[in-house]
Amino acid sequence: MIGRLNHVAIAVPDAGKAALLYRETLGAAVSAPLALPAHGVTTVFVELPNTKIELLEPLGADSPIAAFLSRHPEGGLHHLCYEVDDIGVARDRLVAAGARILGDGKPRPGAHGKPVLFLHPKDFLGTLIELEQV
Ligand code: CO
Repeated sequence: MIGRLNHVAIAVPDAGKAALLYRETLGAAVSAPLALPAHGVTTVFVELPNTKIELLEPLGADSPIAAFLSRHPEGGLHHLCYEVDDIGVARDRLVAAGARILGDGKPRPGAHGKPVLFLHPKDFLGTLIELEQV
């Protein structure tokens, strides 16, 4: 059901510093920071030949990554994003298998404007999983 690894997301306290680290120290192609107020994050995308790294800095008072970052003040691996062909089919299959979808269970537009869902980390080996329909 899942396809390519779309991105790995790392929560960071400072997206500008994180971008510099990836650009200067690791020598990667890095996007300019993009504020996404509707998602409560500022994102920087690192383009790798086979996938992307999404650097996420909290934005606003009720950022969904604020609690995570308070537990991991230096930053930390936040989620993996796998591609699916049909997010409705994927959701139905996962719910039937007993997996929990975060929020109201309805796909919503993610950081790339495509429909996404998040799966409860306790159901997936302690890893938050994002599914993105591509
Ligand atoms: Co993501």
